[in-house]
Amino acid sequence: MAILSFNTKVHFGHGERKQLALESTKLGINRPLFVTDKGVRAAGVFAQATETLTMMADAVIFDQTPPNPTEDAAVAGLTAYQMNRCDGVIGIGGGATLDLAKAIAVLCGDPAPLWEYCNRNTSPRPIVNPPPLILMPTTSGSGSEVGRSAVIIFNNGIKAGVGCPTIVSVAICDPELTLSLPKYMTAATGMDALSHCVETFCSPLVNPPIDAIALDGLTRLYQHIERAVAYGCDADARWHMMMGALEGAVCFQKGLGAVHSVSHSLGALGYHHGTLNAIMLPHVLAINASVLEDKSSRLCRAMNLPPETNLTDTFLSLNQRLGLPSGLKELGVDRSVFPAIAQASLNDNAHKTNPFVLTEAGYCTLLSAAW
Ligand SMILES: [Fe+2]
Repeated sequence: MAILSFNTKVHFGHGERKQLALESTKLGINRPLFVTDKGVRAAGVFAQATETLTMMADAVIFDQTPPNPTEDAAVAGLTAYQMNRCDGVIGIGGGATLDLAKAIAVLCGDPAPLWEYCNRNTSPRPIVNPPPLILMPTTSGSGSEVGRSAVIIFNNGIKAGVGCPTIVSVAICDPELTLSLPKYMTAATGMDALSHCVETFCSPLVNPPIDAIALDGLTRLYQHIERAVAYGCDADARWHMMMGALEGAVCFQKGLGAVHSVSHSLGALGYHHGTLNAIMLPHVLAINASVLEDKSSRLCRAMNLPPETNLTDTFLSLNQRLGLPSGLKELGVDRSVFPAIAQASLNDNAHKTNPFVLTEAGYCTLLSAAW
């Protein structure tokens, strides 16, 4: 059975961004390093998230988050933290921003290089002295605010996780921060969250409480993703999307699968994580179908579909309705990278918990199907 733990204190609900001032005070944060990205600032969401703070006039804001967080960006954030004598980190943004905020917090309290903390090492260096860290998601996707790691592209080219399950002091999840999220990002990040629920449920590790949470998250996400995309200001749909994303990330501890082993590998080339997951999910389900036993029908039941429904067709059709790419070809992926991606996927941690045991040739077949 996978270890069962729920690590993060969470404020959840419309308007909960008002908790930021009180939580900052409780944690003794007087001069935070705000980690965000330029898009979140330009959209006014950063200002919305911090509207109850009084110290914003001379706030230290690091908005250089790349689309996929990198080791270099973490080091740049550390420099900003040290130069401005900050005493805490507040991440406000999507999954990339929140993962970067975690990586910066690791380096603020413990020595570089970041690679030493990566879960690819047999004995990752322990994180012992991080500063207080508050995370506020502005998408409903990665669930990084409650996830157990930060996924980073390291300077050696590998995209992998830094395990930091207790680094987040408090998460503040306010669905109102997602009301203006554009349609495409709502769809792609939402499919990331949905794939977390499906993959963790299909993981062969035994953990019934997590299975229940995964199915609940899947129900919310499948029921509300099209409404959230079509009517971004539907507060109820946004609430369920954010809750589904949180539930998906709580489930990580049971392990992901080949959707994520491939998307981590292709993501190292710069492609968007949620988009990759949306593309891979139908094809991974097809490859896993023979070993899922009653899990297919339980997934169907959670989605309010007949038990014999073909889930590959279901998710291909959903991607189409959401306006997501039909395959890797449309995304611009060149087939020549398949052997290297297959090899990288075999080395990814998520590979270990895919229910069907994939070989290098199996990954190449999977990638061809998804092309
Ligand atoms: Fe993911």
